[in-house]
Amino acid sequence: MATTTLEQRLAALVGAAHVLDDPDVCASYGRDITGRFGGPAALGVRPAATEEVAQVLGACHDAGVPVVPQGGNTGLVGGGVPRGGEVVLSLARLDALGPVDPVAAQVTAGAGVTLERLQQHAAAAGLAFGVDHSARSGATVGGMVATNAGGAQVLRHGAMRAQVLGFEAVLADGRIVRRLAGLLKDNAGYDLAQLVIGSEGTLAVVTAARLRLVPAPAHVVTTLLGVASTDDAVDVMRVLRDRVASLNAVEIFYADGLDLVCAHRGVAAPFADRHRVYVVAECADSADPVDELAEALEQAPVLDIAVADDTARRRALWTYREAHNEAIAAAGIPHKLDVTVQLGDIATFERRVRAAVVGAAPEARTIIYGHLGDGNLHVNVLGPEPDDEAVDEAVLGLVAEVGGSISAEHGIGVAKRRWLHLTRSADEIRAMAAIKQALDPRGILNPGAVLPPPPSEQV
Ligand code: MLT
Ligand code: ZN
Repeated sequence: MATTTLEQRLAALVGAAHVLDDPDVCASYGRDITGRFGGPAALGVRPAATEEVAQVLGACHDAGVPVVPQGGNTGLVGGGVPRGGEVVLSLARLDALGPVDPVAAQVTAGAGVTLERLQQHAAAAGLAFGVDHSARSGATVGGMVATNAGGAQVLRHGAMRAQVLGFEAVLADGRIVRRLAGLLKDNAGYDLAQLVIGSEGTLAVVTAARLRLVPAPAHVVTTLLGVASTDDAVDVMRVLRDRVASLNAVEIFYADGLDLVCAHRGVAAPFADRHRVYVVAECADSADPVDELAEALEQAPVLDIAVADDTARRRALWTYREAHNEAIAAAGIPHKLDVTVQLGDIATFERRVRAAVVGAAPEARTIIYGHLGDGNLHVNVLGPEPDDEAVDEAVLGLVAEVGGSISAEHGIGVAKRRWLHLTRSADEIRAMAAIKQALDPRGILNPGAVLPPPPSEQV
């Protein structure tokens, strides 16, 4: 079927106003926020309900036209943007948010609900959502489920996977699977939701999720610490984990990243002294955790401390960490390498990865930050051209050498599919390809993402 015929069919399904073919309009969803990934889409289509998503996918399946599902377009591995010629399926209009069930502490959210709106909705019911990250105003539930989003509170509540108690999704050919009862125990057969979570739009299109909520803490205390080295930061992490039960987040960044953030945001540095390493630690509890936190920090190798327990000052401390992504994006198109290693290997890895980048691209600038509590570092490299993969190769190779994972929380997307074999065995990749073949035999869902190219396409 020619694209114009498909366009007419889609317009009949969702309304002509929601089938976008103007290249200027398409440009806004054709490129990712880093500027590194993207391409021209054939069309953009914006269904408003699950049944419309089903009909759109049915039409694309019949036509054999590939589809890239897109949420808030906050992804960082090119998995939610077209590569050239696909239909971009925006889930933004599926933004229904059900009532909070205060007894079950659950809510059903449409794929297009933003994280921020979900958090506010839970807070209005005296509860909280267990996942938080800096893209909260744009990232959507569907995208977060599809990528198994992580963020700052994984050490307390787990990643997105741990919050999902049920889901609704549309299969490649347009059939709807729906399991939204939110039962805490449900061993009746394969768990399709858990299979689709983290599959980055390659197995099904998530349209809604039944989500676990957690008690809203009465007290939240955030502290920013200056420390001398990554080894000391790891010691801080150990002390806090062992002594402070209400630990919510432990994050890390370095002096060069702080400089970039301060210049970009026009804010002053947090301390009179400059430190090599900074740690943000946060506790949240029904009782005030400040004394427990202070006692623990007396046992930790800390050089400087700022503490905040009100929202405005807490947010100000978090900005030093959370504004890294935007400050780096303002400085250039980065190679973003989101990796994880064992906590005990973090300090050695940090030293070695800086050397590995210099070896691959001597002029490059390396800015590291991340979620120390999970062993998850974001290695950002500025300088090399977007399609020059020498630093990606060097960093991901090192990660494999130390037994880490080439993706902690951002996914594989198109950025890392070449290197999936570093983290997954040949038999695992064959099993993944078999699942893909079973659920999407025509290969229309997000082709080119996650699974490595077949040997015939490899260079
Ligand atoms: C973060 O932790 O800030 C996000 O994962 C985004 C990024 O890696 O820059
Ligand atoms: Zn992150």
